[in-house]
Amino acid sequence: MPEIELRPWSEDDLALLHRANTHELMDQLGGPENDEQVLARHERYLRLQREGTAHQFRIIIPGHPDGVGMVGYWQHDWHGEPALESGWSVEAEFRGQGIAPTAVVAMLETARATGETLPVHAYPRVDNPASNAVCRKAGFRLLGEEQFEAKPGLVLHTNDWVFDLAASSRA
Ligand SMILES: CC(C)(COP(=O)(O)OP(=O)(O)OC[C@H]1O[C@@H](n2cnc3c(N)ncnc32)[C@H](O)[C@@H]1OP(=O)(O)O)[C@@H](O)C(=O)NCCC(=O)NCCS
Repeated sequence: MPEIELRPWSEDDLALLHRANTHELMDQLGGPENDEQVLARHERYLRLQREGTAHQFRIIIPGHPDGVGMVGYWQHDWHGEPALESGWSVEAEFRGQGIAPTAVVAMLETARATGETLPVHAYPRVDNPASNAVCRKAGFRLLGEEQFEAKPGLVLHTNDWVFDLAASSRA
């Protein structure tokens, strides 16, 4: 397993967010954002973290303190039930080394250690094998396919995976 460290989102993470603002990552969400929108997203991450409703992290590996990707979880409404949703990305040159699944497991541990017990969902598109593999490797359970509204008016054909934090805390 790769050695990784998660660092809670901080003022220094604007550059990381700019590096993640690629067509590949953002086309699912309507396309790359302009500088103003990236800055607004960065400030939103900082604010939501202060408020305790969303937690984004920089993924650090040895020799790369500026980060090689990001992972996070936030409050989510699952068919009317309170839940958490999670998401992740790893920069292209660092893929295929198991960084994302290791980071997701560490994030789930962090969430559990801070007292979270709600189920954590993830919604990779059905045509995203790498991200579906991350769910499987991190121990999520596949519930089935879902038409997921990623943002108002943007519906994606995704899988719905869930990780049961409450069950893992009893294990
Ligand atoms: C999904 C993603 C985070 C996976 O990160 P990762 O650290 O490369 O994860 P892994 O090393 O476990 O690889 C996952 C799968 O990617 C594929 N993969 C392997 N090598 C790869 C490479 N060099 N480049 C891309 N994908 C590769 C494999 O299918 C692998 O699964 P396997 O090990 O079971 O064969 C990364 O591909 C990414 O950032 N993709 C774009 C963003 C995205 O889709 N985010 C999720 C939105 S829900």
